[in-house]
Amino acid sequence: MKHLLSIDDLSTDEIGQLFETAADMHDVQSREVKKLPTLRGRTVVNLFFEDSTRTRSSFEIAGKWLSADVINISAKGSSASKGESLRDTVLTVAAMGVDGLVVRHPASGAALQISQWVDASVVNAGDGTHEHPTQALLDAYTLRTRLGDLAGRHVAIVGDLTHSRVLRSNLICLRTLGARVTVVAPPTLKQSGIAAWAAADGFETAYDFDEVLPHVDAVMMLRVQRERMSGGYFPTPREYTVGYGLTRERLGLLPEHAVICHPGPMNRGLEIAADAADAARSLILDQVSAGVAVRMSVLYHLLAGEGSQS
Ligand code: CP
Repeated sequence: MKHLLSIDDLSTDEIGQLFETAADMHDVQSREVKKLPTLRGRTVVNLFFEDSTRTRSSFEIAGKWLSADVINISAKGSSASKGESLRDTVLTVAAMGVDGLVVRHPASGAALQISQWVDASVVNAGDGTHEHPTQALLDAYTLRTRLGDLAGRHVAIVGDLTHSRVLRSNLICLRTLGARVTVVAPPTLKQSGIAAWAAADGFETAYDFDEVLPHVDAVMMLRVQRERMSGGYFPTPREYTVGYGLTRERLGLLPEHAVICHPGPMNRGLEIAADAADAARSLILDQVSAGVAVRMSVLYHLLAGEGSQS
């Protein structure tokens, strides 16, 4: 594996191998000394043109725990703010002898484009509304840890489908692992053509959140991405919450064993109530913890694993 640009790049077996390594890496998190020599002498640059808390810091921790040298560059504070082109920025960083580039960019396709400019391995850490593959891997890893094999498990993905790169990556990943997926959103937050997409990729679509909830093993709430919205996608935040928020009242509709996920960052009180985010069945902090292990696994397979760079 040379790059990780899309979940579509991974077979079921490759996802399984990434999870196996992630489980070993997860054990490192509970050690007193959290350091493996695996990537000693390797350099990883986190190149972030969009804000991030979880992804950037967990890639940084993952790289450091594997003994790589990790450098963070963000658009604010780099020469991109002086008008340097993306290509020039990337070629400049690559010319310093970098082995891995972890890239977040507001343009869909940016990670693929960058991978065509450089010899380094490129990881897509979120490109526009396209994909966020490591988020989907850590979500599936977390769900599998709690629910076991995901084949036949029913996952509802709820909220702002239109602007979500997490949705696309999760749909591909969960379907590859054999899960049943239902996406739930108001008509204004569903992509046009979603019916054809659903038919082609084998997932279901719904409008009525209350009808879906009693039949799921997991509910994944998506953030309402107000920074990407230029118009009125719903009349008021209150109306959105009434129709599509995971409220305290809706918790009662979930089966007893069902779990709650959110990729973060959350709009508490909008798409998810504090009672749901902080519930015993919420896996939100487990997702964050798994994020480090899964990203260690990805860096390992790209930069040190058997067949890396091939
Ligand atoms: N889930 C996610 O990508 O969060 P950040 O934007 O904080 O990285």
